[in-house]
Amino acid sequence: MGVRTLGAAVAVLLAAAVASQSLAAEDPGRLRRKALRYVEPLPAAMPGAESDTPARIELGRRLFHEPRLSINDTQSCSSCHRLDGAAGVDNLPTSPGARGEFGTRNTPTVLNAGWQIAQFWDGRAADLADQAGQPILNPVEMGMPGAAAVVAKLRTLEGYPEAFAAAFPGDPDPLSFANLGEAIAAFERTLVTRDRFDDFLAGDDRALGEPELRGLKLFMGLNCVSCHDGPLVGGGLFANLGQYAPYPNQEDTGRLAVTGKEEDRLAFKVAPLRNVALTGPYFHDGAVASLAGAVKMMARLQHNRELADAEAADIAAFLGSLSDKGRAGPP
Ligand code: HEC
Ligand code: HEC
Repeated sequence: MGVRTLGAAVAVLLAAAVASQSLAAEDPGRLRRKALRYVEPLPAAMPGAESDTPARIELGRRLFHEPRLSINDTQSCSSCHRLDGAAGVDNLPTSPGARGEFGTRNTPTVLNAGWQIAQFWDGRAADLADQAGQPILNPVEMGMPGAAAVVAKLRTLEGYPEAFAAAFPGDPDPLSFANLGEAIAAFERTLVTRDRFDDFLAGDDRALGEPELRGLKLFMGLNCVSCHDGPLVGGGLFANLGQYAPYPNQEDTGRLAVTGKEEDRLAFKVAPLRNVALTGPYFHDGAVASLAGAVKMMARLQHNRELADAEAADIAAFLGSLSDKGRAGPP
């Protein structure tokens, strides 16, 4: 073999090596280092959990599942935020209340909710305790006429006065509407999920499969992480829905109704994406059935990008790695 043909052969081999490298698997280590600039593993415990006692958590668990907190004894928090295998949602576009009337917003999950900056799609409740009383008094939801009526009812129900006294020792008025919110919040702070994405972030290269790694790369490459960041891959800020194209449903003005500021029209809390594969249908009105459909909608509205089916499927696959290990999918 002459020097020249040897050189040509080496060049062919080199070209083949380069080609096979670009076809080869994603580099998990590089993706992890980049991901950790935007997202973080879920911490062990939610803020505030350090002072939750077993008595308070147990009372909260009972209240969360208590249908007698509704006007006609038919509906509890868990009617909509199902925890019986479901991911803290009912998987309906919008939910029927105690009297069968439907609300206008999709039920978000209660799993990991306490890590968010605020509660509700429009962030109108500051925290879990502040949130918990509101559905009980909401006429379309549990429909109780007022805080005093809720407290009066609980006083007549067996076991509750004792359970509140045990959960709030030293409080001269343990059975109060505020303490009901505190107890439910304490229970909700135990609703922490664990997923394969955190295993990946912790250093397990094999926690994610090839389509999931491709999806993660795209998710970062498209800059979805500019909004969906932090421990919940969302839930940390508010953003306007429809940066490049209008969201189809313009009726719900989002944070405009909370702040009164025109710039907040169609601003919503950035949805946390932990467990998102289990919590469809999607968006505040539950209008989009499939996760890949929601991903395409986001790319179009927030990034002016039409995704190919295969790209949306890869991102949806990555988002599936954010599902609680062992929790079943939508029924
Ligand atoms: C009729 C169905 C229904 C019932 C009953 C219900 N919820 Fe909800 N929940 C919703 C809907 C719908 C929203 C979103 C409403 C909004 O953003 O305006 C929501 C929002 C929440 C949120 C905020 C989550 C987030 O990501 O912003 C929490 C926490 C929550 N509910 C807990 C509870 C608790 C605790 C109870 C019982 C005291 C309860 N819910 C009863 C439907 C329900
Ligand atoms: C400018 C901020 C922003 C960017 C960028 C963004 N999102 Fe979102 N995302 C939001 C907001 C706000 C919501 C909540 C929308 C609502 O109220 O219906 C949301 C909702 C979602 C939902 C629905 C979650 C649910 O529970 O209903 C998915 C899925 C989603 N985003 C994925 C993505 C993907 C994938 C990208 C990148 C292609 C992306 N987002 C980019 C702000 C953003």
